[in-house]
Amino acid sequence: MAEIAVIGAGYVGLTLAVGAANMGHDVTVGEADADRVADLRKGRCPLFEAGVGDLLREGLASGHLTFTTSNTDAVTAAEFVFLSLPTPSAADGSADLSTLMTVVDELAPHLGKRVLVLKSTVPVGTNRDVTERLRATGCPAPVISNPEFLREGTALADFMSPDHVVVGGDDPEIVAQIADLFNLDCPVTATDPMSAELVKYATNAYLATRVMMANSFADLCEVLGADIVAVTTGLGRDHRIGPHFLQPGPGFGGSCFPKDARALLDLGASHGLDFPILAAAVEVNAARQERMADQVMAAVDSVDNPVVALWGLAFKAGTDDTRESPALRIGEMLAERGVTVQAYDPEATAADPIEICESAVAATDGADVLVVATEWPEFTEVDMVEVATAMRGDLVVDLRNLLDTEQIRAAGLHLRGVGKPSS
Ligand code: UDX
Repeated sequence: MAEIAVIGAGYVGLTLAVGAANMGHDVTVGEADADRVADLRKGRCPLFEAGVGDLLREGLASGHLTFTTSNTDAVTAAEFVFLSLPTPSAADGSADLSTLMTVVDELAPHLGKRVLVLKSTVPVGTNRDVTERLRATGCPAPVISNPEFLREGTALADFMSPDHVVVGGDDPEIVAQIADLFNLDCPVTATDPMSAELVKYATNAYLATRVMMANSFADLCEVLGADIVAVTTGLGRDHRIGPHFLQPGPGFGGSCFPKDARALLDLGASHGLDFPILAAAVEVNAARQERMADQVMAAVDSVDNPVVALWGLAFKAGTDDTRESPALRIGEMLAERGVTVQAYDPEATAADPIEICESAVAATDGADVLVVATEWPEFTEVDMVEVATAMRGDLVVDLRNLLDTEQIRAAGLHLRGVGKPSS
């Protein structure tokens, strides 16, 4: 078992920390937010992530997991130092590495030969830049790129049983140490740092493009009168394609796809390379959310003081995260256009002008249109007869093709799905 430091207690860092402590490693987490550290020390999990809270409390009780606001204290006993810090989009779309580089500078005098592992999604060439930065201070720490592929909502399960692991570094022995650290039973791509960094962007770019393909097929289905469910089912049964990430919806969001797509476009552009397919996916995604809002506006065109019920604010089900959420964006666009938006989400929330309601049914009170924007399974359990009674209008716009067509129809409501004939 190893001594591990994790710097940054976000989705990636905290999941890694509790997972590694559960495996028996001694983990110290450095986190700048003092309130978050206080909560974590008390066993209060700041993330809505299945299983992470339980392993947090288990790690605290076993003594394998400790938290500190001092990054330098966090690395004192460590053999391996994982950086899981935010790399948000800068105004020009590039990844903002200022937090990461500030921490690298802070740790440089304290690292010695400890292995520094970059977990954050960082532009290709960052490993090289961090290495040069460390060497300039005389710090000999090897730098390894080990991108994380976990999804929000299933973070712990994804971390504990990944499809694969990617480790990039210049020293094959250290690469092997990192690959073996968590004893994961999966294929390992051991490679150079640049290739490891690019795998992460390539994955997110490919999946984002794939989601937009499904959305474009859905648009085609609507104008042609075909059914997207049959189309993506058939498409996904071709083993060369596979069934995942073909679910049409209001577009992709979250903390990774939009940010990483922009960062990859910026990276290509900085080397004089266009990436038209990815650029189109980003553009079409933004336009899609606008178009969804337009469609709802058209439905309330003739109504005075229109009211829309919005089911879902999170960027997908299983998370309370609303970063770049299509659901939230559509709600905001409707509110900007004078619609009263009554929202309900089991976990996520929003600020004015969106009104937050206590339940899914409460959100439909007096609504002209119900928009289903996040695919929370509990929405399928709501009594649609109650909804029909509460609503002023009778249109349900299901942007996730979540609800049961027959139930909607039986309740006397009209359903408009994505890529499906209206009923
Ligand atoms: C993603 C990557 O999957 C993960 O590997 C990486 O580490 C971080 O980014 P996450 O942001 O948690 O994970 O969300 P994900 O489940 O991948 O969904 C991304 C977006 O695509 C969401 O807005 C989701 O609603 C949308 N999506 C996904 C679809 O619209 N249709 C699909 O079929 C799949």
